[in-house]
Amino acid sequence: PSFWCVIPAAGVGSRMQADRPKQYLRVGEKTILEHSLDCFLDHPKLLGVVVSLSETDPYWPHLACSHDRRIRRAPGGLERAHSVLNALLVLEYSGAAAEDWVLVHDAARPNLARVDLDRLLSVLADDPVGGLLAVPARDTLKQAGADGRVEATLDRSVIWQAYTPQMFRLKVLRQALQQALAVGYLVTDEASAMEWAGFAPRLIEGRADNLKVTRPEDLLWLSHLQSCSQA
Ligand code: C5P
Repeated sequence: PSFWCVIPAAGVGSRMQADRPKQYLRVGEKTILEHSLDCFLDHPKLLGVVVSLSETDPYWPHLACSHDRRIRRAPGGLERAHSVLNALLVLEYSGAAAEDWVLVHDAARPNLARVDLDRLLSVLADDPVGGLLAVPARDTLKQAGADGRVEATLDRSVIWQAYTPQMFRLKVLRQALQQALAVGYLVTDEASAMEWAGFAPRLIEGRADNLKVTRPEDLLWLSHLQSCSQA
């Protein structure tokens, strides 16, 4: 099977309180989206990338990579899962095989390390289901009640934070997303759709600094990492 990458980049990123979607904020020389794409464009195993973009996105055409022939576009959707589904349909229409692997990675996760990508690819190479990068919970986790008081303390030894890339077979993932969305199931990542369809995705421990940029303070941390890696 071949390997493809899907980058949902059609979010507005309202929690960033910025003048543009967070994937288009600049960190160092490049935008967050370009940093997120780097690892995949550099990787010899990956055949191509589909980026889901809002149809009114004025920023994408200004990026150097918008002319890259390895990158195709898909229309963004209402939620992240719809944007991913649209990208999978573009892959299917353009001839990718049902058994091909697809790695879905957030546009707002610009610090993916090559070692993590390589570990994901090698651990899952013969896996019947697929899986995702994840990080064991470090903090004690509380479950809140509607009144904002603690209802329970969770057993953190079995709790992981789901990161990306998440890697599954094209057709199985497309069907899982379509069916889960059709019944109104809350799909916040690819693994949750696969779980809904009855599969058990494999957790692969990744680096904690593969963070998703969500809040303004995350930019400080990212700029710092950039300056450290250039030093
Ligand atoms: O909002 P959040 O950080 O969870 O978004 C995760 C990723 O999904 C981002 O890269 C964002 O651009 C993308 N997304 C999308 N289509 C949407 C909503 C989010 O492609 N409708």
